Amino acid sequence: MKRILAGVLMVAFAATTAAAADSVTMTAKNGNVTFNHKAHSAANECKVCHGEAAPGKLTLGKDAAHKLCKGCHEVKKQGPTKCGECHKK
Ligand code: HEC
Ligand code: HEC
Ligand code: HEC
Repeated sequence: MKRILAGVLMVAFAATTAAAADSVTMTAKNGNVTFNHKAHSAANECKVCHGEAAPGKLTLGKDAAHKLCKGCHEVKKQGPTKCGECHKK
């Protein structure tokens, strides 16, 4: 199972570098976090994550990311809230 997952993640990573907008991978030393930017930006207004400025490169960092990402998942009771569901090695 682990090995299959690693393969899927590598494909996802390759897809990220080819088409930046569909899926984004954010690096973290305890396991990179990949999320579907396309689905998230279809379901939410850009400013939910990007703020009022024109959406573009965004560096969240640990605390802001946890507040934003986990916060919404907890409120909506949808999406991952456990460490290993976001951070994949
Ligand atoms: C759920 C949060 C979220 C939403 C909603 C969202 N974005 Fe993003 N977006 C991000 C994050 C996080 C990054 C930075 C990812 C990274 O570290 O490369 C990003 C990166 C980007 C980038 C830069 C891509 C790159 O290659 O550097 C663009 C452009 C962008 N978003 C546009 C949009 C637009 C337009 C919308 C609305 C239609 C939108 N985003 C909605 C979270 C979001
Ligand atoms: C909803 C997804 C999500 C969950 C759940 C989550 N994280 Fe994160 N975490 C992130 C994102 C996104 C980043 C920021 C990555 C970036 O800024 O490039 C991050 C960053 C971090 C960092 C900083 C890594 C670095 O290299 O600086 C640590 C440590 C971390 N998380 C630990 C945890 C722990 C421990 C848990 C469980 C208690 C957890 N995370 C749960 C998404 C998540
Ligand atoms: C405004 C609400 C909201 C924000 C902000 C948000 N998410 Fe989500 N996320 C969701 C919802 C709702 C789902 C469930 C979607 C589904 O299952 O169809 C989800 C699902 C996910 C999933 C599992 C499915 C997938 O898309 O891969 C991951 C991973 C994820 N989110 C990561 C993140 C990360 C990382 C961030 C921050 C950069 C983030 N989310 C910010 C609402 C949000």
